[in-house]
Amino acid sequence: MENPSTLGIMKHTPLPLAARVVLGGLMLSAPLLQAQKFEGLAMTPPMGWNSWNTFETNISEELVEDVARVMIESGMLEAGYNYIVLDDGWMAMERGEDGNLIPHPEKFPNGMKALADHLHDLGFKFGLYNCAGSLTCGGYPGSQGHEFQDARLYASIGVDYLKYDWCSHGTRDAIEAYTTMSRALKAAGRPVVFSVCEWGQNEPWKWAGDIAHLWRTTGDIIDCWDCNERWSNGVKKILDMQMSLQDDHNGLGIYAGPDHWNDPDMMEVGNPGLTVAESRAHFSLWCVLAAPLIAGNDVRNMSEEIRQILTNKEAIAVDQDPLGKQGFRFFQSPEKEIWIRELSGGDWAVCVLNASNERLATTVDWSHVGLVTGTQDYTIRDLWLHQELGSTHDEPELSRILEPHDVILVRLSPAK
Ligand code: GLA
Repeated sequence: MENPSTLGIMKHTPLPLAARVVLGGLMLSAPLLQAQKFEGLAMTPPMGWNSWNTFETNISEELVEDVARVMIESGMLEAGYNYIVLDDGWMAMERGEDGNLIPHPEKFPNGMKALADHLHDLGFKFGLYNCAGSLTCGGYPGSQGHEFQDARLYASIGVDYLKYDWCSHGTRDAIEAYTTMSRALKAAGRPVVFSVCEWGQNEPWKWAGDIAHLWRTTGDIIDCWDCNERWSNGVKKILDMQMSLQDDHNGLGIYAGPDHWNDPDMMEVGNPGLTVAESRAHFSLWCVLAAPLIAGNDVRNMSEEIRQILTNKEAIAVDQDPLGKQGFRFFQSPEKEIWIRELSGGDWAVCVLNASNERLATTVDWSHVGLVTGTQDYTIRDLWLHQELGSTHDEPELSRILEPHDVILVRLSPAK
């Protein structure tokens, strides 16, 4: 079925596709591409769980119900993980006769509305995945040409979050594709957090702020520290990309803020390819990056150590800080990195990473960090040990032995 609204955009588009790609942000001021997202839905980075990193397309109603139950029992919902998002594979291979998407009949025998209602009753919000191309990455029907119809379906189901991917997009222009879906969601009337997943290919940080609440900055993450496989990269490589795409020393951080976040991808915390130290570092650094905290592990089988990492409220408070400033890498050597994030109330988060593959005896000199934070006296609180460590005046250095890829995460607060 043709989508009249998409045709409308094409008819009124004043420039050829190539020019629109080049002119990126400028095109958002063109009347028919103008779209305003539902504002205020993500004043702090969204938190939740997504099925992809562990289950790929092997998802079902039963799995989601179990995950929701465990997220309540484990304290995850209470800690802030309130979105449950079904990624690729939730739908049938073909649309119905009316053009509507159909939930996969074996995986979701009771349909999506019943599942959404159930999750809402438990206190969660509900998210789905689709794609701006003709097919999703898993080969299921994409939304191209069906944007307004799909948005109406999501509204009728009770969808609160849409992750929108970029496979099979052919020659489609990214700004047009994502703006069209944003307009469709707006037209359908139900507030939806819109998550752009075009892998950073068209620099969405420069144009997606008005139409979306978050955007992927890179290709996919995988559960290893620093491996890479074709389109996918381990945690450390994804971390480095947040800086290597930089416009200034803040890296991509200059584009992020309340209601518009860089998304370095869903977390691999607790997945088998990472040590516990690496999961702790991954989590800490995502908090310093003001990243969406979307867990991607099998929460039904997580260890107590991983549960404690994911529900560390002091680290989560860094991620969810209302100032909404993304942190940046302040210092880097082959062995050690220091990441710093400004927080509200004059506080700062400081994360020291052992980037080497060996155990490392390391010292943090607060006068060095003071080049960013200012040299006033701060109290120091360790966010993993949950302990006060004195003040930067009384304890001018912090010395620790760190396991490979482990971190220190502290919060500095102005001393009274
Ligand atoms: C892409 C996305 C992933 C995931 C898969 C699903 O690779 O980047 O996050 O959604 O598609 O097929």
